[in-house]
Amino acid sequence: MRVLVIGSGGREHALAWKIAQSPLLTKLFIAPGNGGTGSVAENIVMDITDHKAVTDFCKLMAIDFVVVGPDAQVVAGLGDDVRAAGFTCFCPSKAAGQLEGSKGFTKALCDEMGIPTAAYGRFDNEAAALAYLYAHGAPIVIKADGLAAGKGVTVAMSVEEAEEAIIDCFSGTFGAAGAEVVIEEFMEGEEVSLFVLCDGENILPLTTAQDHKRAFDGDTGPNTGGMGAYSPAPVMTREIYEQTLTRVIEPTVRGLAARGTPYQGVLYAGLMLTADGPKLVEYNARFGDPETQVMVMRLQSDLLQLLLWTATGDLKGRTVAWKDQFALTVILATRGYPGPYANGSEIKGAEGLDNSEVQVFHAGTRREGARLLGYGGRVLNVTALGADVQEAQNRAYDAVDKIDWPQGFCRRDIGWREIARNGV
Ligand code: AMP
Ligand code: GLY
Repeated sequence: MRVLVIGSGGREHALAWKIAQSPLLTKLFIAPGNGGTGSVAENIVMDITDHKAVTDFCKLMAIDFVVVGPDAQVVAGLGDDVRAAGFTCFCPSKAAGQLEGSKGFTKALCDEMGIPTAAYGRFDNEAAALAYLYAHGAPIVIKADGLAAGKGVTVAMSVEEAEEAIIDCFSGTFGAAGAEVVIEEFMEGEEVSLFVLCDGENILPLTTAQDHKRAFDGDTGPNTGGMGAYSPAPVMTREIYEQTLTRVIEPTVRGLAARGTPYQGVLYAGLMLTADGPKLVEYNARFGDPETQVMVMRLQSDLLQLLLWTATGDLKGRTVAWKDQFALTVILATRGYPGPYANGSEIKGAEGLDNSEVQVFHAGTRREGARLLGYGGRVLNVTALGADVQEAQNRAYDAVDKIDWPQGFCRRDIGWREIARNGV
């Protein structure tokens, strides 16, 4: 089977790395890929926002299966266009992808299906948004409605901070994504992510993970796309997991099918474990980045087969097997991220660290001759397995410390919640 992976992040390197191990695979392409993906796939220079360029490539290279990684391509409907051209594709439809593309869409589905989530209001003008804020007070959460690379959310601890975020959104900071604003009740609790595959009707739960969204140690600093993760997340007990499936995931899948827009792909539920049980924070219509990096390390089953079953409506009765180990990943980012940063700094020592317990997945890297350069915010994902989170963390940081990159930084406390819980 000839496969094309779309994307260039750490998530896509991790997907390609695992797909490359499948006995079903004969040839793997990745477009555009990055400075690390060339070791498992053939990098293809392509403008992935040009859907015709993607389908032309599929025809030319006799591709059997396309796997779409990034949210922007899901929301832009690349899956629909690839399927319309006659190719099998792992990517939700544009209609179902609104779960990620529009917070208002998801909130309306939650209302309709009785899915537990934060109370909210949705506004297209500043005066009405401010009036809602003054009526509810702080803490409160302000969100740009559309996609803003994980940066359109302000958890405001004071009314002044919330006012500023609202004014910011309507002044165009997030472009079209901020034309509508969702204001939410602040939910108190620990966050956890659950990933499930869905073929439109049948659900195959994958696993849990915990991300670290803030830029700096101790969960301080601005929100990022994610600075590290581990999996599984034991904070999601069996009981909470069952509740999440029956109260959140199943009604979502039923609701979308009933609307005539069935969900086919991976569904990523961001949950808050509150005193009243699990509540939905958000849905993403694609794999997590960096959660995928830890999931693939633990996955024993054939990922390519799982994705194919999902895309062809064949998940019924399928199972998935995991290693009985924890995985943890540390993101090395360019200094300045998530704000402005400089591209082109050289990274040394990132080669030769991979073994059966450690994998360095690349995100924003490029090769120039023998040199490896940083080209992006999140640049390397140093990922390790261990018997527990502490062991996985030790292995990951041992590898991080062998990398020589003065322009980079990372958090030193990835996995702290679970390590603290275990009293280590
Ligand atoms: P989102 O992009 O919706 O996932 O929001 C980004 C982050 O903001 C989440 O991962 C949470 O940490 C936080 N957040 C979002 N909504 C809420 C909420 N209603 N209550 C508390 N924290 C929230
Ligand atoms: N790690 C957060 C995300 O993939 O959205």
